[in-house]
Amino acid sequence: MKKGIVVAGSINIDMVFSLPRLPLLGETVSGGRFAAHPGGKGANQAVAAARLGAPTVFLGCVGEDSWGDFLLAGLQQAGVDCSYVTKVPGPSGCAGIYVAAGGENMIAVATGANSHTTPEKVIRAREVFSTARVLMTQLEIPVETVAAALELAKSAGLISILDPAPVKALTPEMLSLVDYITPNALEASELTGIDVHCWNTADQAARKLRSMGPETVIITMGKQGAFFSGPQGHVRILAPRVVAVDSTAAGDAFNAALAVALAQGTEPDIAADIAAAAGALAVSRAGAQPSLPTLEELAQVVKLPW
Ligand code: RIB
Repeated sequence: MKKGIVVAGSINIDMVFSLPRLPLLGETVSGGRFAAHPGGKGANQAVAAARLGAPTVFLGCVGEDSWGDFLLAGLQQAGVDCSYVTKVPGPSGCAGIYVAAGGENMIAVATGANSHTTPEKVIRAREVFSTARVLMTQLEIPVETVAAALELAKSAGLISILDPAPVKALTPEMLSLVDYITPNALEASELTGIDVHCWNTADQAARKLRSMGPETVIITMGKQGAFFSGPQGHVRILAPRVVAVDSTAAGDAFNAALAVALAQGTEPDIAADIAAAAGALAVSRAGAQPSLPTLEELAQVVKLPW
């Protein structure tokens, strides 16, 4: 069975300010620490999948600025195949991230080179779709590129996972191409018009989202875990308890572990359990890519059926 993963997505330099608390509008909070890490939802998911042992290819763009090589190195050190990463004129994508002492965050992204990740670039990489099992994509690259990647995945018989972050309106055509959609509670509320704040409302939103196209919906609910809704049933997935340090990239760890488990032929609800454990591990550590667990670390907190 093919076990490879293709990620079509964004790559950013994360400028992280760790603060005693998040600033209010117009307020300055001092006493923080600063660090720059490789990040971006697409690159984080690719690095996470590679750390979990999957052959992983990343499709995306970095800028010709000084951060471009640093970002590429982050992918390469994790063993991600970067043959289809293009360097384009102008700045790399950049995220300004505030992280508060309790682990919660605020993120603002300057798209930079990610806007050059066009449908043509993805279509040029069509050969990698024929050797993979799962596509992961998100909404930090142009939405028409996400649609092109989903179409290629569908025609090559891949399982597709869409992390609808940052949330945008999606057409019924696009949603019909998605196998798994993995919004957080806010994104699920935005996509369905149902205010998701508890298991019951998560169930309602998941059922509505399934009626819009994806066969399986997994709504991530922060430290509570996730709500799984698919042909196998509707279940709460509980996340292992951890001390929250930084929630950045928790969703990326979740999606990557889900992808790797599905690529290994794991049952979807078990794959969601494994994903929740990977997300919790990422929350317990600082940074985006620095926080993503390895296969060995994941195996210490959850049983892996492969
Ligand atoms: O999901 C976390 C990521 O969101 C960060 O790495 C940041 O770059 C933003 O894209």
